[in-house]
Amino acid sequence: MDLGFRGAVADYYHRYRRGYPPAAIDALVEAFGLSTDDVVVDLGCGTGQLTLPLARRVRSVVAVDPEPDMLVRARSAAGEQGVANVSWMIGSDADLPTLGTVIGDRNLGGVTVGQALHWMDHEKLFRDLAPLLRSGGGVAVLANGTPLWQQDTAWSHALRGYLEQWLGTKLTRTCGTDDASQLRYGDSLTAAGYDVASTAVDYTDELSTEQIVGGVYSALPVHRLPAPEQREQFAERLHDVLQPHLPFTEQIRVSILTGRVAEL
Ligand SMILES: C[S@@+](CC[C@H](N)C(=O)[O-])C[C@H]1O[C@@H](n2cnc3c(N)ncnc32)[C@H](O)[C@@H]1O
Repeated sequence: MDLGFRGAVADYYHRYRRGYPPAAIDALVEAFGLSTDDVVVDLGCGTGQLTLPLARRVRSVVAVDPEPDMLVRARSAAGEQGVANVSWMIGSDADLPTLGTVIGDRNLGGVTVGQALHWMDHEKLFRDLAPLLRSGGGVAVLANGTPLWQQDTAWSHALRGYLEQWLGTKLTRTCGTDDASQLRYGDSLTAAGYDVASTAVDYTDELSTEQIVGGVYSALPVHRLPAPEQREQFAERLHDVLQPHLPFTEQIRVSILTGRVAEL
């Protein structure tokens, strides 16, 4: 299925999407007792926001994504940052059982899914992963904040109004970042036999108009992006709509749901 994470969208994603704060990576390391002996799979790795900081804490990461353009961007970011212990693989959640035959049973320290589980068959995935995880390892589901147009601030409400008018549609999707989705994922982890816990890392940041425009473009399927010659006008109009609501303060909550397999 083409989800539109291609071409210019991959570039915007690489440039404007938030990385994960060090405390979020610490929480994963602590939850699964990760060390430099461990191999971790980052599923739905995108342009590597989670992959790269994680790779610095473990032996290696297998980073999996169905979208070649996202992987190309991630791989070049790894090169720029001197991260050399990641294997980049085109694939999806459906490929995990096959990848498991390569990695072998009980050999993974963890599997991370950042902002991507809503595209997957999560119940099947959680069941497929259990035999691949070592004792004390587990699955982590991360949500990196709330979509820019879904936040409870005046600038975010204004952004939503502008985007709904521009796109001609209501924007209701939360991309799995809402509490109800997190609860549903937690229930599925429990049903698949994992020991479930959750934690969060909160911080505040201030955005520029450019970051908001880039963040919006990174979240649109490529066929919904304004045409290249319309982007300047899109940004100028959005700037005017947002200006009365300065400063553009964002409260970011990184939610981390972990499912650990029992210690053997
Ligand atoms: C919103 S991005 C998340 C990127 C990164 N993990 C992060 O936290 O910022 C979602 C990614 O999931 C990928 N994806 C979509 N469907 C997938 C599937 N069925 N299995 C694995 N990855 C998938 C997309 O190609 C995209 O790169």
